[in-house]
Amino acid sequence: MRKLRLLAIWTAILVQHSANWRIVESLRRQPEGKKTEQRLLVNMTLLPRASSMAAVCLDGSPPAYHLHRGKGTGVSNWLLQFEGGGWCNNVLSCLQRSRTRRGSTRYMNRLEVFSGILSDDPINNPDFYNWNRVKLRYCDGASFAGDSNYSDGAFVLHFRGKRIWEAIINDLLPKGLINAQKRPKADHVQLDSLSQMLPDSTIVKCMSDAGFFLDVNDITGNDTIRTFFNSVVKLQGVENNLNKACLASHYFPSQCFFPQYNLPFIRNPFFILNSAYDTYQIGHIFVPPSADPTGHWSRCKSDLASCSPSQISILQGFRNEMLTALTTFESSRNEGMFINSCFAHCQSELQDSWYAENSPRIHNKTIAEAVGDWYFEREITKEVDCPYPCDHSCQNLISGLEPGII
Ligand SMILES: *[C@@H]1O[C@H](CO)[C@@H](O)[C@H](O)[C@H]1NC(C)=O
Ligand SMILES: *[C@@H]1O[C@H](CO)[C@@H](O)[C@H](O)[C@H]1NC(C)=O
Ligand SMILES: *[C@@H]1O[C@H](CO)[C@@H](O)[C@H](O)[C@H]1NC(C)=O
Ligand SMILES: *[C@@H]1O[C@H](CO)[C@@H](O)[C@H](O)[C@H]1NC(C)=O
Repeated sequence: MRKLRLLAIWTAILVQHSANWRIVESLRRQPEGKKTEQRLLVNMTLLPRASSMAAVCLDGSPPAYHLHRGKGTGVSNWLLQFEGGGWCNNVLSCLQRSRTRRGSTRYMNRLEVFSGILSDDPINNPDFYNWNRVKLRYCDGASFAGDSNYSDGAFVLHFRGKRIWEAIINDLLPKGLINAQKRPKADHVQLDSLSQMLPDSTIVKCMSDAGFFLDVNDITGNDTIRTFFNSVVKLQGVENNLNKACLASHYFPSQCFFPQYNLPFIRNPFFILNSAYDTYQIGHIFVPPSADPTGHWSRCKSDLASCSPSQISILQGFRNEMLTALTTFESSRNEGMFINSCFAHCQSELQDSWYAENSPRIHNKTIAEAVGDWYFEREITKEVDCPYPCDHSCQNLISGLEPGII
């Protein structure tokens, strides 16, 4: 069974060495019939030696990534995709997670399908197909940001997301992530210094796919997600690793775990890809089970068509809050966004939503085209869809949400 991407907060960091800057001409998908369906499977690279830096998954297993090498004009460009998958905020939920593929490489498939933005086929991924593409596996429970541990004698939980990220970057450096001349002598690289080590001409841009988690009250007025993020930050020692400038300007450190507060302090250009009706956020943050004990929302959450008019209007309220939080980024030249009105969560790795005949579009632009236009500065790309149900390009596919994360 393929990995589900329904719980992801993942961010792809696109690193491009501008010496090889080329604008890859968009290739259109072949007419139906000529299409060849081939799955690219990429082997896992485990980092057993990372345990010497205490860079381990929740259960102590070694961290891992999957790398598919670039070629041709893309050979020195890198796309790093940080896998997402919710968070754990207390000892019990982290212990449970440590016994699943979300908290241990022991339970992960060794082979991952690379599709959508990870595809190596120019027909499916016109701008990034020949880059080095890396999927960094997520097994720490705090978005690669924690650094602490918990031990009660019977078991140990390792909250080492930040070290995992450093260990993987360290492993990738000699594989070409930076030019050999710039490689540091020390074998332990701090994340903060990564961009200093890259050649000055390197263009580093970031993209968040379904990662724009709103600081929003749930439908009962409870601040479920704030409370939740706060406990993640506390349990996993995340605070020290949050953006310092953000911390200095926000009273609650855990607010800097929310992109709407954190992004204004990020200097690299970024792209926000999100649905305004993000199924994960609606299911776990806006209408979490605790806010709907009678299950009044169950049918609506799994099928938009069965939402009542009053439920739809509550969902419009969620969209409005998201658009309000995004207004900060609307005026900036470097930032891009694609906020569609499809019922979806994570749209860049699924071929059907990234770039296909029937993919979702805004102003007739697919997500792949929007991201490429932004990255290569072909066009300022800030696409915001009209409200549900106007967009007929949506697939509104809802595969079951994984339970028990919030
Ligand atoms: C994946 O890597 C492992 C360990 O290096 C190797 O034994 C295995 O044959 C590889 N599998 C594929 C399909 O390449
Ligand atoms: C937990 O963290 C402390 C402080 O970093 C360290 O000294 C200790 O060895 C760690 N324990 C385990 C089991 O990793
Ligand atoms: C509010 O949210 C918190 C965190 O999810 C939860 O523990 C609490 O029970 C909720 N309170 C109410 C009244 O729903
Ligand atoms: C939308 O784009 C496709 C190509 O992706 C093109 O064939 C079609 O004519 C465009 N439709 C409109 C209405 O512009």
